[in-house]
Amino acid sequence: MAEFKQAPAGASAGEKLMTWVDNRFPATKMYKEHMSEYYAPKNFNFWYFFGSLAMLVLVIQIVTGIFLVMNYKPDAAVAFASVEYIMRDVPWGWLIRYMHSTGASAFFIVVYLHMYRGLIYGSYRTPRELVWIFGCLIFLCLMAEAFMGYLLPWGQMSYWGAQVIINLFSAIPFVGPDLAILIRGDYVVGDATLNRFFSLHVIAVPLVLLGLVVAHIIALHEVGSNNPDGVEIKQGPKDANGHPLDGVPFHPYYSVHDIVGVVGFLICFTAVIFFMPEFGGYFLETPNFIPADPFKTPAHIAPVWYFTPFYSMLRATTDQMVSVLSVIIGVAAVLNLIKGKGTGQTKIAALVGAAVLIGLLKVLEAKFWGVAVMGGAVVILAGLPWFDKSPVKSIRYRPSWHKIVYGVFVVNFVILGYLGVQPPSEIGGMVSMVGTLLYFGFFVLMPWWSQLGTFKKVPDRVTFTPH
Ligand code: HEM
Repeated sequence: MAEFKQAPAGASAGEKLMTWVDNRFPATKMYKEHMSEYYAPKNFNFWYFFGSLAMLVLVIQIVTGIFLVMNYKPDAAVAFASVEYIMRDVPWGWLIRYMHSTGASAFFIVVYLHMYRGLIYGSYRTPRELVWIFGCLIFLCLMAEAFMGYLLPWGQMSYWGAQVIINLFSAIPFVGPDLAILIRGDYVVGDATLNRFFSLHVIAVPLVLLGLVVAHIIALHEVGSNNPDGVEIKQGPKDANGHPLDGVPFHPYYSVHDIVGVVGFLICFTAVIFFMPEFGGYFLETPNFIPADPFKTPAHIAPVWYFTPFYSMLRATTDQMVSVLSVIIGVAAVLNLIKGKGTGQTKIAALVGAAVLIGLLKVLEAKFWGVAVMGGAVVILAGLPWFDKSPVKSIRYRPSWHKIVYGVFVVNFVILGYLGVQPPSEIGGMVSMVGTLLYFGFFVLMPWWSQLGTFKKVPDRVTFTPH
């Protein structure tokens, strides 16, 4: 056992209490490590608000969720009515429900911006690979959490959205049909599905999510934060106490600074809650105000906006797209054989691999590949630390045309999102196909394009003008 420390002579009651606690639990040590002695780069900008905002939204979702569960009933016969009861009869129930439904969309807005920041400043690069991987797992959990939560109001879109997405799993070879039944707990979406989604949405996934967020922060604080210059402050000059000269203690500097982001966020958040909680049918979809009817399919089924870029990629994966993919894989393998840098053995292995993949593309149905493309679009994010071969981290010191590449990537993602909300059309399908190829091309070709061009010199110290 470590030796007990004594409070200094003349210590106040509070100090004595803290000494008592610290002898049994590392409270002060943790506070110093993660707050008052966590040195964060002093050049953080607007983009660095979104991590703390994601934490704020997480808290909002958990707290409002707890209150919703007090009146919500996970029973297919009364679920819809229980939500209406919360909206009309429970004191402040409408506010709690609108906070939770708006919070879901806010979560994705904040997290997409947070991920974009990581992308442009190369925050996923060494030594922050695990911070990024934990982030990708958080994103997956968030998607599962939102998908299952959406079933709970038991409206038409809840019901049919779940029906469509769960049916997709049945396209997986061998295990698919059984897996779909396991997820539903029945042959169609029903009471059993609602019960298990409720259980997972309310306890299982939030627990995992919380654990992952803790791991995300611990991993970040182990290696230290990146910044808009991509300069490692720990490798720069230090003061007499060994603290980086380019860093400032997180508390009070950033704990106070983050209040600016929180206020800005709360202004937007409350404006939506009080003035446009349905947000034109994007945050709460119109068909979801009609109770679920298993005998009446809505004319147009679309997931909530935050899933639509991925939904577009699913819809784009038709037989035609599978043929295009086969040609691309074939051409890439032949080009690699003629011009690639590898040994003869690896080139032949790549050619055989490509032939097997083309065979599989043709044998398995396009529906399965649609699911694979949709899942792959999320999973591929985790490979970013290894795809990016640029000699610098931040976009600031990359060749100017790299900014255009990132710009095209973002615009393409937004277009895919827009198309996913629209009913299927021929032209929309074609654009989605090109968009899907661009999305994957961005990642798959990154080892090549990220090294090209003239890079600017990265400064030794972060660029910072006191204000
Ligand atoms: C519930 C969701 C999330 C929460 C609460 C969260 C929280 C945080 C916080 C508080 C920070 C430090 C402050 C900051 O740099 O902004 C951070 C940093 C970071 N997060 Fe997240 N995060 C979440 C999701 C994600 C996701 C989905 C990704 C990526 C796939 C991600 C990637 C990163 C990276 C790379 C950093 C380091 C940034 C840097 O140092 O430049 N995070 N996160």
